[in-house]
Amino acid sequence: MINTVVIRPCTPEDEPLMAEIVCDAAQAYKGKIPADRWHEPYMPLSELRAEIAAGVRFWGAEVGGTLVGVMGIQDVGNPAGDVTLIRHAYVRTTQRGQGIGGRLLEHLKGLARRPMLMGTWAAATWAIGFYRKHGFALTSLTEKEKLLRTYWNIPARQVETSVVLADARALGMLRETVSAAGEFAQIDGLWKPRMAGELNGQLVKFVRLKGEFEWHAHAHEDELFWVLEGQLTIALRDRNVVIGESEFFIVPRGVEHKPVCENECRVMLFEPAATKQHGD
Ligand code: NI
Repeated sequence: MINTVVIRPCTPEDEPLMAEIVCDAAQAYKGKIPADRWHEPYMPLSELRAEIAAGVRFWGAEVGGTLVGVMGIQDVGNPAGDVTLIRHAYVRTTQRGQGIGGRLLEHLKGLARRPMLMGTWAAATWAIGFYRKHGFALTSLTEKEKLLRTYWNIPARQVETSVVLADARALGMLRETVSAAGEFAQIDGLWKPRMAGELNGQLVKFVRLKGEFEWHAHAHEDELFWVLEGQLTIALRDRNVVIGESEFFIVPRGVEHKPVCENECRVMLFEPAATKQHGD
């Protein structure tokens, strides 16, 4: 049986347990982040309280009436623009992989009225993957350095070993125009879509494809494939659709499809934020 997850604001009574959750979850960083940045306890209660005093508002996830995860947001204003930072996102080690972090993040995304940014360790690949799955994209090195200096108060050494992820609105704030070549240069693997913009609840993504994907369908979303370089075949159950360079094809909702290409092709996708890559 799956326990119900309840998301609620944290209260001062929660603080000792919150610090405990952070320290437990932060064990994942041990041996991964640079040794000179590791300290134990990872976040003493006094530091947690100082963060709250500095304006970090925490939400907690309860399972069976017990707090098991926390995530904070902090609104920061600056001449460069107002943003909301996601701060201190942690789920207890024993409660990982149950979608608790995702529930917290989606809740906070619903509350934020400003572009959202998230800073984490470059070595925390699992965290980066988590945010990417939830509509965030890694910013470039230049953007990252500027953002960390503008919105965070961290030493130079930490800037070096950190990355910044941005949601679609924050990306729009950073870039007036988006270069497809620039986006492709940031993609480090095949079949890994990179979110580059958002309009009306639809995401603009770039992806490098080669080989075969699995058969799948999206019950509620039409999906656009716009081939920028190369050639892509979309196998349908009754025929194959070959999309040439600078051509696009829209797979109607509910239709089973399988992207196939012998040589690498570079594609722009246009689909609602809720669309799952592997279908429903
Ligand atoms: Ni699809």
